[in-house]
Amino acid sequence: MNPFEASRLVFKRMPLEDWFDRYQFEVDYDIGESGMKFFSLGELDINLSDVELRYGYHIGQPELRRLLAEQYEGMSAENVAVTTGASESNFCIIAHLVGTEDHIIVEHPTYPSLYEVPRSLGRDLSLLRLEWDEHFKPNMMKLREMVKPNTRLITLTHPNNPTGSQISEEVLHEAIGIAEENDLYLMVDETYRDLTFEDPPPPAATLSKKAISLSSMSKVWGVPGIRIGWVVADTPIIEAVRAVREQITICNSSLGEAIAIEILKRKDELLKRMRKQQLANYKIVKDWMDNQDWLEWREPEGGITGAPRFKKGGPTREFCELLVKKYKTFVVPGYGLEMDDYFRLGYGGDQEELIEGLEMLKRALKEHLG
Ligand SMILES: Cc1ncc(COP(=O)(O)O)c(C=O)c1O
Repeated sequence: MNPFEASRLVFKRMPLEDWFDRYQFEVDYDIGESGMKFFSLGELDINLSDVELRYGYHIGQPELRRLLAEQYEGMSAENVAVTTGASESNFCIIAHLVGTEDHIIVEHPTYPSLYEVPRSLGRDLSLLRLEWDEHFKPNMMKLREMVKPNTRLITLTHPNNPTGSQISEEVLHEAIGIAEENDLYLMVDETYRDLTFEDPPPPAATLSKKAISLSSMSKVWGVPGIRIGWVVADTPIIEAVRAVREQITICNSSLGEAIAIEILKRKDELLKRMRKQQLANYKIVKDWMDNQDWLEWREPEGGITGAPRFKKGGPTREFCELLVKKYKTFVVPGYGLEMDDYFRLGYGGDQEELIEGLEMLKRALKEHLG
């Protein structure tokens, strides 16, 4: 028997990441990325010459855990586990909480690994679909009905990637209520929480021992290359993350941790700059969307992505391929997010590149739709 036969593979590639891997370095204009403009080490003016290149604390450098905990009212460093991106936190939580006989509910759309991990592991997975007609907000009545006796985990992502939708504090409390009543966990991916247009609800983990907050340095802080993410939760969950991650990566990159510490020490100054850039870029994208006739979207309420679709309907894959190959402009086709009739626009990047990329988008739309 061939263990590499597609049907026998335990882990298959995620179409979203396949698309990135194929095109992200081949284009002139990237208006599909889900993070703020990338920093270089030089721009951040961080000196790493004293960093020891040794193994680190398995659950994160103490100062980094302390700096992160400061952002979560009532939480201490004991409630924080630092991992190799939010991706590893997500893997650890699902691997630990959702056993072979257990059920998990994942809000959809979202960053695909949130549902691909349980799918790969063969877990009983239900998707809580966000609908255009509900402005891509999770329907709590529907969620309540989806819970089974063996449901162990529910995950939500807000601000949502790719739609940019946000949940209210009331909805978050309701979701936590469902978790508490059913003795299960709620994990909220809050990667974009620092970039909402209005004040966001409190981080989920600060509201209940049954709630887990997931986040990352990758998006808001423009440093996905340092591969630092974290989870904030009750201490038994943190201990579980340590057990799982010791079997994958052991600890974080000492360089990544050192850079994250320097960024968080300058958090207020950098965040002000990021918000200014986000709002200025959003205005450009919104004006562009308001002045064309091919696409429609639900206006984002936060984050740095949005999900337009053709007004006339239909899948976007062919169009995105035309855009990337002929116009050297990168967006994410909906098939990579299991929402074929949409594509993801990302507006956190360089402003000139965004303006040029939108011009290319217009030319490609004219060619594709007339
Ligand atoms: C909502 C969301 N969560 C998690 C991740 C994973 O990010 P990382 O592993 O770089 O922290 C991403 C990446 O696109 C994302 O969009």
